[in-house]
Amino acid sequence: MVSKVVQKKDKNNLAEWVDRIPESEIRRILRFSPKYYFAGGKPGLIPVETFHRIITEIITDEKELLKQNSDSVIDNYNYGKTEGNDELREILADRLQKHDRVNCSKDDIVITTGSQQILYAINDILVRPGDIILTTRPTYLGFMLVAEKLGARIVTLPSDVDGLMAEHLDDAIELCIKQFGRTPKALYLVPYSDNPKGTTLPEKRKKMVLDSILPREDILLVEDAAYKEIQFDDKKYVPLKESDPENERVAYLSTTTKEAASFRLGYSVLPDWLKENVVKAKGFYDLCTSEWVQKIASRYYEYYIDDQIPLLQEGYRARRDAMVRAVEEYMPEGSFTRPTGGFFVWYEYQDVNFDTKKFVGYAIDKGVSYVPGYQFFPSNGYAFTEESELIPFKGPTNTMRLCYSLLKPEEITEGIKLLGNILKEVEKNSQKDKFREEILHDQGRYLV
Ligand SMILES: Cc1ncc(COP(=O)(O)O)c(C=O)c1O
Repeated sequence: MVSKVVQKKDKNNLAEWVDRIPESEIRRILRFSPKYYFAGGKPGLIPVETFHRIITEIITDEKELLKQNSDSVIDNYNYGKTEGNDELREILADRLQKHDRVNCSKDDIVITTGSQQILYAINDILVRPGDIILTTRPTYLGFMLVAEKLGARIVTLPSDVDGLMAEHLDDAIELCIKQFGRTPKALYLVPYSDNPKGTTLPEKRKKMVLDSILPREDILLVEDAAYKEIQFDDKKYVPLKESDPENERVAYLSTTTKEAASFRLGYSVLPDWLKENVVKAKGFYDLCTSEWVQKIASRYYEYYIDDQIPLLQEGYRARRDAMVRAVEEYMPEGSFTRPTGGFFVWYEYQDVNFDTKKFVGYAIDKGVSYVPGYQFFPSNGYAFTEESELIPFKGPTNTMRLCYSLLKPEEITEGIKLLGNILKEVEKNSQKDKFREEILHDQGRYLV
C-alpha cells in the first residue's frame, strides 16, 4: 500500500512576502454572495448579444475555411505571439490614434491577460526593494499591492474631489530624494473616474502632472485608463499619453473589462525599453494570451464598440444616479463623491473611529457588501501631506468603496437603504459597545 505523506507547509519556508502582504479585501468578499453586492468592480452591463453574434460570425468563417482545407483555423486554438495577436494590435493602434490621439503603431502595443498582468509586469520590471512609487491617496490596490509585494515604498499624495492634488508633485519628489536618497521610479494614476473615488483629473491638473513628470526622465508616468470610455458627461478626454508623441515617457494602459467584457484581456502602449521587458516577463507568466479571445476582441473593436459605448454609458449613468441619490437619502451623515464616470462612489462616515473593516462581516450577514476603504491605502507606506511633510501613514478606518456597476438602479436603492439603516442602527444602539462586540465576532467568521 502506498502511504500518502501529507506535507504541512512551514510558514517560515515560504517566500518572504506571503505573510507580509494582506489578501485583497475584494477577493475575500467575493466568497460571499449577499443580495446587494457593492464590493468588486464587476461589470453588470455586457453586450452579450453582440458577443454571440461575433462568435457566430467567427464560427461561420471557420467552417468556410475548413471546407477549403485551410490550416489557418488552427491558429485560433493555438499558442500565439507573446506580445499579442497582430490583427488585434493593429486594430487597437488604429483606434487609439483616431479616437484618443495617441501616436502609436501596432508594434508599440502589448496585449496582456487582463490589465492586472501589465500592472504586475511594470512593477516587476521597475522595483528594487526600497524604491519609491508615487500615487494618490487613496489609490487602486491592484497596482499598489504589487509594488508593496516587491518591496517598494509607496508614497501617496493627497487627493480631493478632482483627484490628485498635482500642485504637490514637485515638492513630494524633492522631499523623497532628500529623505530617502532615491528618485521615485514611477507615478501611477487613474486620471478618468478613478478607482476607488471616481474622480477625474481636470485639464489644469493634467498639465501640472505633465510639467512635473515629463522633464524628469527617470520617473515613468503610468496612466491607467481603465474607465476612460465609461463617462457620463459629454466631455471628450484626451489622454496624458497624447503629450508623449515619441512614446518614451508614459505607459498607457487599458482593458476590455469595462468597455467590452471581462475576457481577461488588457492592452497597453509602452515605450520600447519597457515593452521589451514586459514581453520578457509575460513569457514567464503565461507565454501568451488566449488567441480565441483576441479574435473575438478584434471584431468587437473593429466593428461594434462605437455602437455599444453610448449604451454602456447610459446604463451606468442610471446606476450612478441611483447610487448617489440613495447615499444622499439613506446613509448616515458623512461625505461622498459624485463620479462623472466609472463604477465607484467613495463614502466617508462622519465617525472617524468607526471601522468599516470590522463592520463588513455584519453587513454581509444582513445582505449587503462593500469594500472597506483602508485597502486603498498602503499597509506600510508614507503620506506626503498638504503641509509638505513625508510621514508614515495608515489609511483611515471610516471609509468604504461602494460599487454601482453590477446591480440595477432599483436594487441599488434598496441595498443602500439597507446599508444606511444598519449603520444607523449601530449609531443609535443603547448598548453600543455590546453591539460592536457582536460585530467583531462576525468579523472573525468573515476573516476565516
Ligand atoms: C483602475 C483599474 N485598473 C486595472 C484594473 C484591472 O482590470 P482587468 O480586469 O483588465 O485586469 C481594474 C479593475 O477593476 C481597475 O479598476
